[in-house]
Amino acid sequence: MADATSVLHVSPVIPVVTIEDPQHAVPVARALADGGVRIIELTLRTASALTSMKLIAEEVPEILVGAGTVLTPGQADAAVAAGAQFLVSPGVTPSLLDHLLTLGVPVLPGVATVGEVMGVLERGLTAMKFFPAGPAGGPDYLAAIGAPIPQVQFCPTGGVSLGSAPKYLALPNVACVGGSWLTPRGAIENGDWQQITTLAREAAGLGLNQG
Ligand code: 3PG
Repeated sequence: MADATSVLHVSPVIPVVTIEDPQHAVPVARALADGGVRIIELTLRTASALTSMKLIAEEVPEILVGAGTVLTPGQADAAVAAGAQFLVSPGVTPSLLDHLLTLGVPVLPGVATVGEVMGVLERGLTAMKFFPAGPAGGPDYLAAIGAPIPQVQFCPTGGVSLGSAPKYLALPNVACVGGSWLTPRGAIENGDWQQITTLAREAAGLGLNQG
């Protein structure tokens, strides 16, 4: 089982993916993997998300599949039962964190303030999602956090694009970024898997410039 820090190092971009129709799940995951992105954060924002999770976990072993938008302990349990290999939350509460830490899978809690970073760090975690990255302060804010707290590695997500990703990835406390731009809704609905592979290849290429 991977730990949370190694989850951050699978790809320079973690695609945040929302799938309505489970029939799209496997082709989307394969399209990302074909483009060199071997990780997917599948959001629990649709009624069928767990069905999609199970299909990807069973049929696309070449990709690490995690659950995003984990808001409650029950959602976390259901995601792990469906095959989620890591869990991502947009924010943290003490009770959610307590529960996530019992599940035996890597966890990336969402944080947006220095106090929240310190709270999660106190629980022994050093890998976190920084959300919502753009509105919360962007690369300058993360660089400032890195001065007093250099031991935490972040995955900034929320308002990040192919254009803004390099500024984040250049920071020593950023291991990867997250974003939904690799899997546009239209491409999924039209079955344009080639477009997703092309976007994934571009995103995977961001890692070539990382030190
Ligand atoms: C998330 O849940 O991480 C965000 O919805 C992704 O944000 P983005 O759509 O701005 O990439």
